[in-house]
Amino acid sequence: MIKIPSSEITPEHLFNSRRTFLKGAAALSGAALLAACAPGGGQAATTPADIMPADGLTDELGNPVNSYEDITTYNNYYEFSTDKQSPARLAQNLVTSPWEVEVGGLVNKPRTFAMEDLLTMFDQEERIYRLRCVEAWSMVIPWQGFPLNKLLAEVEPTSEAKFVRFETLYDPQQMPGQRDSYFRWPYVEGLRIDEAMHDLALLATGLYGKELTPQNGAPIRLAVPWKYGFKSIKSIVKIELVDKMPVSLWMAAAPIEYGFYANVNPAVSHPRWSQASERRIGELGRRDTLMFNGYEEEVAALYAGMDLSAHY
Ligand code: MTE
Repeated sequence: MIKIPSSEITPEHLFNSRRTFLKGAAALSGAALLAACAPGGGQAATTPADIMPADGLTDELGNPVNSYEDITTYNNYYEFSTDKQSPARLAQNLVTSPWEVEVGGLVNKPRTFAMEDLLTMFDQEERIYRLRCVEAWSMVIPWQGFPLNKLLAEVEPTSEAKFVRFETLYDPQQMPGQRDSYFRWPYVEGLRIDEAMHDLALLATGLYGKELTPQNGAPIRLAVPWKYGFKSIKSIVKIELVDKMPVSLWMAAAPIEYGFYANVNPAVSHPRWSQASERRIGELGRRDTLMFNGYEEEVAALYAGMDLSAHY
């Protein structure tokens, strides 16, 4: 088990003045690396099971991060399975290298990025985000990645671009769930352009100081912490700037239940259950759900004047 003494937690630069999103994460990834590459031979590399919450590693509200075990064995990845335990097993052979992400549509400079380039072009920042699933469970996850707005700046969206549409890999041979025609594959998600440009919208490439696991959306997935987890699309191959609101997989499957915005909102129930509280994986009891998943101060202005029960 890796433990980071609080004295070693380096203060990180903050992209947002009030909150310490990055507290301790840099120290954690350094320690994970150290353990994996310890000199002297004979030392076993750090295995995922060794990686447990480090002392003091919390989100900006003081919530401890979930264990690596929780984060990598309790997943939603319908391309592999509709249950939470199977993606860890069924996704392990997903070929994630080589990998390319095509970015185009209403942009001046369309471009296909090799994954290696995305890892070197942009600083990989550490950010601890809460993930609140629409099914009323949640986790706290230490991601690495870079803001989506940095990638969008490279391709220069035109003034007609109003939304961003994301697509997951479509490969029914590797992704058995895609052989089920109940859903309209590939998995598609979307953001309004101002949401996509918000600094909190992250393209995640790693977690806990390691590469993303396939079940968590390797090699690159979205992490939009103020929205229900289903917006955070995994294993992205295509990003398109468009002028019309994209229809996501969930909107197509059940439009009454899943809207485009999907902002975490304890006051607006899902038609089949309340969203007022949630179960934090690894905890007993329930917690109150926070407006915008606790990121209200940062993002509420994006929705000024909107009726959030109509735009659910
Ligand atoms: N992306 C794809 N392509 N397929 C999925 O089934 N599930 C979503 C989201 N991204 C999903 C996806 C849902 S419902 C949630 S809650 C989160 O991924 C879960 O992310 P995690 O497994 O890394 O915790």
